Amino acid sequence: MRSTVRTRLRLAGALAAVLVAAGTAAGPAAQAGERHHPRPTLAGLAERHGRYFGSATDNPELTDTAYTGVLGHEFDMITPGNGMKWYATEPRQGVFDWTAGDEVVDLARSHHQRVRAHTLVWHSQLPDWLTSRTWTADELRAVLKNHIRTEVRHYRGKVYSWDVVNEAFNEDGTYRETLFYKTLGPGYIADALRWAHEADPHAKLYLNDYNIEAVGPKSDAYYALAQQLRAQHVPLDGIGLQAHLALQYGYPATLEDNLRRFSRLGLDTALTEVDVRMLLPATADKLAQQADWYRWMTEACLAVRRCAGITVWDYTDKYSWIPAFFPGEGAALPWDEQLAPKPAYYAIREALD
Ligand code: XIL
Repeated sequence: MRSTVRTRLRLAGALAAVLVAAGTAAGPAAQAGERHHPRPTLAGLAERHGRYFGSATDNPELTDTAYTGVLGHEFDMITPGNGMKWYATEPRQGVFDWTAGDEVVDLARSHHQRVRAHTLVWHSQLPDWLTSRTWTADELRAVLKNHIRTEVRHYRGKVYSWDVVNEAFNEDGTYRETLFYKTLGPGYIADALRWAHEADPHAKLYLNDYNIEAVGPKSDAYYALAQQLRAQHVPLDGIGLQAHLALQYGYPATLEDNLRRFSRLGLDTALTEVDVRMLLPATADKLAQQADWYRWMTEACLAVRRCAGITVWDYTDKYSWIPAFFPGEGAALPWDEQLAPKPAYYAIREALD
């Protein structure tokens, strides 16, 4: 008698689970199931695999409450799109401003989300005081060290990781001739990692770049550098693959192999700034292809043990950086401009589920 009840309960539980798993499936039963068991979020699905699912965000958007509703609910990792960059955090030499970065960190913490901090050393979006004069190596080393130590200390204990150096290589795998490289030589990367580690020993320290999703000259340069840094016991934890993809340039088919080779070096990897842009107008065919790419990227990360998670470079086309930077292109994110989920969103769910 009692075991029959237990069996019935177990069957009811299994049925409920099926209904929840069915998620968006049509029909009154599925809908009733959904009312009692809200659809799991991307973060919730990713957590089942020990991964995170994140989004970038930016301060001007934070007054949009429909936007922040989804941002606070669907993701468990947040990246400030601009607020932690050098121009924002040290607008005058030695004068630090944490307003923008703190706003994003505080919002994330209020939603129990972690933060991928971005970025300490980059050739772009630097303050004028830094780029408008020349520096001796000793001067620039002191400026860089002070910037890194002060910013990393400010966020110590509040961030999961730092993109310590961003976009250090050219497409052919040679070092990008930035202010830092030209003045300090390639050793600036190891120095930056060491200074960041001293300032927050618990933050995971990443090198981050675009066009390193596939195996090729640029990702090979990261592989060689990572090997070298590991051999020298420089504190490097991971490689961030930005994954700003474009339909017209083809899918990076060697992504999974590439993630795996970094993993074998004992490094974490992450897809850090994912978007998949297309030539406008968006059509059903392009959106379907885009969905496949999001699905494949998600599957690739799940297939490699040390791929820690995925971050989209904002989640809605309403606030994507693409139209401003790539005229004629857009529709790159999993939610459209009205904050409605696109095929890409459902494809990510399927891959995670
Ligand atoms: C972009 C921001 O999204 C824009 O708002 C800003 O105007 C320019 O920078 N690679 C990076 C990011 O590492 O910091 C860039 O973010 C996008 C490309």
